[in-house]
Amino acid sequence: MRVDLEVNGERRTADDVWAGESLLYLLRERLGLPGSKNACEQGECGSCTVYLDGVSVCACLVAAGQAQERSVRTVEGLSTKDGMDPVQRAFVAAGAVQCGFCTPGLVMATHDLLRRNPRPSDPEIREALAGNLCRCTGYEMILDAVRGAAGEMAAS
Ligand code: FES
Ligand code: FES
Repeated sequence: MRVDLEVNGERRTADDVWAGESLLYLLRERLGLPGSKNACEQGECGSCTVYLDGVSVCACLVAAGQAQERSVRTVEGLSTKDGMDPVQRAFVAAGAVQCGFCTPGLVMATHDLLRRNPRPSDPEIREALAGNLCRCTGYEMILDAVRGAAGEMAAS
């Protein structure tokens, strides 16, 4: 099967996609975009979070064929020619990255939260990120990063 889609603003094509292949596999293994991580492949950890037509999804739970003629935005697509997205900068500044495996998914989930709710309370942050697991940080630095990103975006 051939899949034609838009990824991070570019037209992309993948050939020989097999019927059970996930969007995550297509992105990482066929299109050379390893930012979305593959940790559980069961929708449990959030490390593979991407936007599909602007909606946050776990790419491991989406069949590659479902992305036909649709738009995908990955963590690689958050940064621009001017540099990192404020959320990416905030994660670095807060030291919220240790092994980094959870980070792309958390960055995407935070980006999604802040576009819907620019000034989230701590309970709202915890609820929004509940589907994203981190084994390293204890989450406090991640909360700091989300608060920092919200503050930077409010000031800009
Ligand atoms: S790899 Fe997709 S949710 Fe864990
Ligand atoms: S930084 Fe290692 S899993 Fe979150």
